[in-house]
Amino acid sequence: MTKKAFLLMVSFAFIWSLNLHAASYKGQRVFSKRCVKCHGRQDFIESKTRREWKKLMRKKGKKLVEIHLKSEKAKKSWKYFKSKRFQRKAKHLKDFLVEYAKDSGRVPACN
Ligand code: HEC
Repeated sequence: MTKKAFLLMVSFAFIWSLNLHAASYKGQRVFSKRCVKCHGRQDFIESKTRREWKKLMRKKGKKLVEIHLKSEKAKKSWKYFKSKRFQRKAKHLKDFLVEYAKDSGRVPACN
């Protein structure tokens, strides 16, 4: 294979993978910024099924907010969970979590 053909192939693979992740990309960013420091990444997302995530994230993450506001240990997250910012991003976050849930068969590829 020539070098040029190889480079072409690599760029196609790259563009393809970007497209694949476009939908949940925003949610992934929220998760990396807001949740990873307390929960870690992959294992945590995979600890729940799609149905469980959907339930937690229903009505802009109402249930998720409740869990955290009830827990003294999660105090550092209270400000965020009460904010408009979270409400606005809840849908993206849900898309991301559901997409990579235990029974989705998918693994977040980009860090
Ligand atoms: C400051 C640390 C902190 C941050 C930030 C945080 N959490 Fe939590 N979270 C906790 C703690 C502590 C609990 C345990 C609450 C309890 O059970 O008392 C918890 C519980 C949970 C639970 C339910 C427990 C379970 O495993 O079923 C889910 C789901 C969850 N968090 C998701 C998230 C998501 C999604 C985010 C990001 C938007 C997030 N958390 C951000 C600390 C945090």
